[in-house]
Formats: sequence, C-alpha cells, structure tokens
Amino acid sequence: MSDDLVPRGTKAEFTWPFERTDPLLPPPEYKEARRSGELTQVQMWDGSSSWMAARHEDVRTLLRHPAMSADSSRAGYPNSNANHAASRGSQRGFIRMDGAEHNTQRRMVARELSIPQVAKLRPYIEEVVDRLLDDMEGAGAPADLLTSLAEPLPSSAICEILGLPAEDSHFLLDMVNRWMNLDSTPTESATASAELTAYLDALVTARLNNPGEDLVSRLVTDQLNQGTITRPDLVAVLNLLIVGGFDTTANMIALGTILLLRHPDQMRELREDPSLFPSAIEEMLRFLSVAHHVASRVPTEDITVREVTIQAGTGVLAPVPAANHDPEVFTKPDHFDIHRDARDHMAFGFGVHQCLGQNLARLELQVVFTKLLERFPHLALAVPENELEFRNSMIYGVRAVPVTW
Ligand code: HEM
Repeated sequence: MSDDLVPRGTKAEFTWPFERTDPLLPPPEYKEARRSGELTQVQMWDGSSSWMAARHEDVRTLLRHPAMSADSSRAGYPNSNANHAASRGSQRGFIRMDGAEHNTQRRMVARELSIPQVAKLRPYIEEVVDRLLDDMEGAGAPADLLTSLAEPLPSSAICEILGLPAEDSHFLLDMVNRWMNLDSTPTESATASAELTAYLDALVTARLNNPGEDLVSRLVTDQLNQGTITRPDLVAVLNLLIVGGFDTTANMIALGTILLLRHPDQMRELREDPSLFPSAIEEMLRFLSVAHHVASRVPTEDITVREVTIQAGTGVLAPVPAANHDPEVFTKPDHFDIHRDARDHMAFGFGVHQCLGQNLARLELQVVFTKLLERFPHLALAVPENELEFRNSMIYGVRAVPVTW
C-alpha cells in the first residue's frame, strides 16, 4: 500500500505483532500508522494496549527519551508474545537494564567490540568465509546458503571472541533459535534458555579455574573477581553477546542475498566496483531492518510526545523497520538503492542501547558479500522466491535459502 492511499488524520487500530506481506519489506500497518501523523495505539497479544511510533522522528524521540526504561521486568513492558512475558526478569542482560547499571555493564564489553578491536578479527573472518565458500563449492550446487554460510559465520565469530571451540557453535545456534522463535512454546523457549545459561555458567567456572586470553577470561579476572559484576549478571552478558550476535547477522546475510538477487543490476555494479560495498551494506541494513521486535520500552513517568501523554507503565513500541521506511527521511523508502545515503537508518537502534555489535556486524557483512559475489558470479536462487519460507522470530528471518551458481 502506498503512503498516499490512507487519508491523513485517520485513526488506526492495530493488533501487535504485525505480519510482513512482502517478506523483505516492513508490514503495511506502519504506513497506515505513519499517515495518521500521530502516535498510534495498538492492542497487544494479551489484550493490553501500547503506544506505537511509526515515524523516524518519533522513534528517535522515544528511544533517546531519558524516562524510557528498557527493563522487561517492569509492569507494562510490551512483550511480543507469551514466551517473552514468561521469561521476563530472567536472563536480563544489560539490553534490558537502565541508567548506571546498564552503563557499567555495557562499558565492560564496549572496548572488546570497538572498531580497532574488531578490525583485528578481519583475517579470521576472511579465513572463515573462504573456508565456508570452499565447502559450499566442494559439495556442489544446490546448497542452503543459510546453513552453509549465513549461520556459521556469525556463530564462529562470536565463538572466536569468547574463546569457545568452533564446534560448540551448532549447539549455541540451536539454543538461540529455539529460545527466540516466536513459534516455540513457552516450555521449549524456557528449556532452551536454561540450557544456554547452564552452558555459559560452566564456561565461567572453566575460566575461573583456568583463565586464558579471551574475553570471558578478562571479564572473570577484571570484573567478577573484583566484585564489580555478579556471576548471574556475567552469564547474562555472555548470553546477550550470543543472542545479539547470531541471528541478527545470519539473517542479514540470508535476506541480503535474496535482496541482491532481486536486483541483478545493482549486484553487477557491486561486483565490478567493491568500493560500493560499505554504502550498499548500510542500505541493506535500512531496507531489511531485521531487528523488528527489539526496541520496546516502558516510561517510568508520564511523558508527552506529539501531543499524546503516555502514562508511566504503559508499553511503548519504537519499531526500527517503520523508522527506516519513513518517506520523509528516505525518498521512495521501499526502493532498494545502493547509491542512496542510508546513514540515518536505525537498524542498530538508537540512543543508549544502540547495538554494541555493529562494528562486528558491518565487518562480517562486508567480507561475506564481497567474497560471495566474487566467488559465484552466477549465483541464483534454486527455487522460485515465492517458495521460500520466512521465519517469525524476534529477528526477522528465513528458514532456508537454496542457491545454485
Ligand atoms: C546486523 C546485525 C545486527 C543488528 C541488525 C542488530 C540490531 C540491534 C538493535 C536494533 C539493538 C537495540 C535494541 C534496543 O534498543 O532495544 C541492538 C542492541 C545490541 N546488540 Fe545488536 N544487532 C546486530 C548485531 C549484533 C552483534 C554481532 C552483536 C554482538 C557481538 C550484537 C550485540 C548487541 C548488544 C550487546 C546490544 C545491547 C546494547 C545495549 O543495550 O547497550 N548485535 N542490536
């Protein structure tokens, strides 16, 4: 639906979460909501009501508002489904903390994921991508790009950062998928979360007994042993790095490939001029906005935004896909254009919780797409695009991407 089809000022009523109609574009409800020019009230799966922003400016205002809490254990926090409501409070991680507590824990890992630290991983990431592409080529077409490239790359990168054996990445990936999938039952979700926690707790014990040169050892030595973080909080930090780093980047690689295959001319341009990759990656991040259920908040005091008073304890949704497709900021937002300046996108969120792994994600995406296009000049989907199955998770994704070359 075009933004122009909905009369300005129309009050819209929606039930959250929304479904995508075109799998690579945000749900059409955002256009309708944006057209009203106001914040929109949406009904949650449990019958409660939340306020939702759909314009770039309003999403930004809400995400940087000092009264906004990201703490999902607070009453009124808008969980996307029963699983997340059931697990709220457990495995908080600093993504769900506020103020000084959030700041302290974020700073413990920020340096580890800074541009210079991440740049040191480039040779490792290049080697992993080369190996995965060799394996794909060796096994012959067709291949599932999701399981042979998109998933193993980010999980190997996180395992390398945490100093974990690469073979553990399969277990970790499985746990994250079962925990985060909106289609998992609450029991499946809770079991996967508990198994992941047990694994990470055992890892902390191992590093306490035998510290090495890895991030976990540094956190154990510099923070846990000094009493600046509790053991459950340390486990939650590790958990967050795994959950934050797996599915997001994996689905950007999988969906990004489908997006490029939809635009063969732009794919050809990228192959001929790889210097276009950095801006093309920003456009892919904007366009796909895979982190579609993460930026939820609850205000700790009454706040007024766009003449709406949001009462303390009322859920607030600040969906980044809506902001990233606001025509006031991105001309023809549903048009994929690697030449546009997409730098104002909020695919990594905005404000104090802005993604800590974005340097790593950008590096992985640049390396993987450069090498994929170089290696397979005749890359194509092995099935018609409308036969692909997309995945309803906290992070938008696809179940398999069969390709030939
Ligand atoms: C393309 C890939 C990625 C996307 C699209 C993405 C997206 C996001 C978004 C939207 C947020 C903000 C959530 C909010 O405001 O509630 C976020 C936070 C976060 N992400 Fe990412 N992420 C990606 C990759 C990664 C990677 C690779 C890591 C880990 C190595 C990571 C770790 C984190 C962490 C720790 C936070 C919490 C920051 C805080 O609360 O201070 N992310 N991410």
